[in-house]
Amino acid sequence: MEWSDKYKRPSRAGHTRSFGWPNPLIDPARPVFFTELSRHLNTCLRLGTLKTPISVCDIGAGAGRGVFEFARLFKRVARIVLLDPNPHLVESAQRMIETHRGKASSFDAIRYVCSNVEEFCGEVFEFVSCLNLIDRHSSPRRLYRHLFEMVKPSGYLLLASPLDFKNHITALNERVKCITELLEGDDWEVRFLTDLPYEVREGRVWLRFASQLLLARKTERNDRRTSSE
Ligand SMILES: C[S@@+](CC[C@H](N)C(=O)[O-])C[C@H]1O[C@@H](n2cnc3c(N)ncnc32)[C@H](O)[C@@H]1O
Repeated sequence: MEWSDKYKRPSRAGHTRSFGWPNPLIDPARPVFFTELSRHLNTCLRLGTLKTPISVCDIGAGAGRGVFEFARLFKRVARIVLLDPNPHLVESAQRMIETHRGKASSFDAIRYVCSNVEEFCGEVFEFVSCLNLIDRHSSPRRLYRHLFEMVKPSGYLLLASPLDFKNHITALNERVKCITELLEGDDWEVRFLTDLPYEVREGRVWLRFASQLLLARKTERNDRRTSSE
C-alpha cells in the first residue's frame, strides 16, 4: 500500500499520473482527507483552540499518512507513536516516513509500534488520534475507553469515522449514529465537529465516505478526576 500522491508531493491532493493521465488503479486512497484534516488542525493552532502537543499517538495509523501530517504540523513534538497491528502497514508507513528523517526534528521523534490498542497500555499523550477505525472495531465503546485513558488531562482527542458499520464486525448495540455519543458521560470541550471526504479504492470501485471528524479537549473536571485517581 502506498500513499496515492506518491509521498514526494504529499500535500497535493489528486491523482497519481501515468503518461500524463490519472491512474485510478494505482491509488488505494486519495489524500484529500488528510490534507483537509491538516488544514483544520492548522486553523485551530492559529486560533489558539489547539495548543501544539509535545506527545502524540495515532491509533490504527494504517499507512502512516496521518502521522506524516502531524509531524509536519507539530514542529515541537518530542514523541509521536504510530500504532497499528498490521505489520505490513507499519513497515510501509516507516519506509515512506523515514525518507523525511533529519528534515525536521519531529520526524526523528516517531516510534513505530506494531500492536492493537488493547495491548498498548500505560502511556499517556497530549494528543491522541484514531482515524477511521471506530466502524472497523467490534466494540467502539471499548475502543473509546482505551482512547480516553490515553489522553492526558487537558489533552486532545481527534476522532474520525464514516460510521459505516458492518454486521460481521460490530453488533447493533455497539454502534453510534454520531461520534459525540461515544463521549457522553465524560467531560469534553468539543473544538470542532465536521465531515470530511474519505476516499478509498476497493478493486475497481472507488468509495467516497463522509467521515465525521471531531476534535475535543478533556475538561477541568477530568483533570481533577485523573489527578486524584
Ligand atoms: C480503515 S483503517 C484506517 C487507517 C488510517 N487511520 C486512515 O484513516 O486511513 C483501520 C486501521 O486500524 C487498524 N486496527 C484494527 N484494529 C485495531 C486495534 N484493535 N487497535 C489498533 N489499530 C487497529 C487496522 O490495522 C487498520 O490499519
